[in-house]
Amino acid sequence: MKIDPWSSTTYQDYSRLRDEFGIQEFSENICKDLPHPHRLLRRGIVFGHRGFELINNAIQNKKPWAILTGLMPSGKMHLGHKMVIDEVIYYQSIGADIFIAVADIEAFATRGYTLEETNEMALHDYIPNYIALGLKPENCHIYFQSKHQDVKDLAYILGKKVNWSQMVATYGFNSSTNMTHIFSPLVQTGDILHVQLEKFGGVRPTLVPVGVDQDPHIRLSRDIAQSHRLYNVTVTKDGKIGVFVKVDDNVDTLLENAEKILHDLHFVDLKKIPDYKAIYIQNATEEDIPKIDEILSQSEAKFGGYGFVLPSATFHRFITGLTGDKMSSSKPESAIFLTDTPQEARKKITNAKTGGAVTLEEQKKHGGNPSECMIYELFVYHLIEDDKELENIYTSCKNGEQMCGNCKKHAAECMDKLLTEIQEKREKAQDIIDQYFK
Ligand code: TRP
Ligand code: SF4
Repeated sequence: MKIDPWSSTTYQDYSRLRDEFGIQEFSENICKDLPHPHRLLRRGIVFGHRGFELINNAIQNKKPWAILTGLMPSGKMHLGHKMVIDEVIYYQSIGADIFIAVADIEAFATRGYTLEETNEMALHDYIPNYIALGLKPENCHIYFQSKHQDVKDLAYILGKKVNWSQMVATYGFNSSTNMTHIFSPLVQTGDILHVQLEKFGGVRPTLVPVGVDQDPHIRLSRDIAQSHRLYNVTVTKDGKIGVFVKVDDNVDTLLENAEKILHDLHFVDLKKIPDYKAIYIQNATEEDIPKIDEILSQSEAKFGGYGFVLPSATFHRFITGLTGDKMSSSKPESAIFLTDTPQEARKKITNAKTGGAVTLEEQKKHGGNPSECMIYELFVYHLIEDDKELENIYTSCKNGEQMCGNCKKHAAECMDKLLTEIQEKREKAQDIIDQYFK
């Protein structure tokens, strides 16, 4: 199978996706190291990652790191879109630099909106909602792809190391795909990697929190970051640790630079083989690799390289629509929009698909099925912060103590509170929106 970032597929079996695409599990073990982990992380909604160790390491050692994510404005912002920004706000609270791309080029290329329309949606719906949800202007930069020269330049330059067959294999492009669409994954790579340019804070771990449909872009960005490195540090077939120069220019200088860095790291027993463009380190172990690689990467800028740290990513599940299939802007009854009035939301909740039994009698006897219930999903993803309280809802549903009518009423009340608060804060957001575009 293929993950297509532009289709409207819903995914059922997330652990299979993980196995098939080599995504790591975002386990409780990772979560327990994080300061007051967000509910989406605690509850397994963020189910997978690539390279999160680098982020964890930066957090534990209080080193700088960045978040870069993007939004593609296409219709009104709903609860499905809220998840990424909830995560971003959490990461901002624990010290990340935040960058958010408005993917207007992508929306233009793939959804048929004009740049003016995406502009309007971003400035009057998505971003005011982000601010209302708690995104702070400090250390936060929001930008439009179409207006960011460094991002666009990077997209062109980085594209040199990708060829057409790789794009076809990754995205299934064909001879009738329009060229702006074909180019849009490179713009997204530009988004993801530009935060590591000197001008935007330099080389550092970068986390991209996204829905799992974005994994092809993550793989592409990681590939591209890797192929632009000047050095590779690895274990050779015969078990030695070696630093290899990957380019053909300046090989001698690059080897000298590596030699010096290794000396400074107190590796003394080195064997340089210029013909192999390699330095073997006699007494290093695999555990030394990340450290060596980090210092080498930071030196690459001096030689015209980028020294990108591989971008990390986390992947979240998709929230199901209230109707039981995909939550989608084009089906208003499936989605709760952040601009819905509490009355509108109540109506959608009343009509939502639940895991209740066919009759009350039966539900009292056998209980309901929260795992197949859209109302319960709302509680888990958005409405109930306290884990104990959530567990109580689960058990009382399972035991047949809680009936769907009451449960929906409770959900509607929580939603009312949430939407009213967002509505109030959104009104003030317009006054400070400029502070995010600096
Ligand atoms: N492609 C993303 C979407 O469809 C939007 C996006 C653009 C993005 N640039 C990004 C996401 C960079 C993460 C990182 O929603
Ligand atoms: Fe869902 Fe609540 Fe009904 Fe259980 S009681 S099936 S959680 S609506």
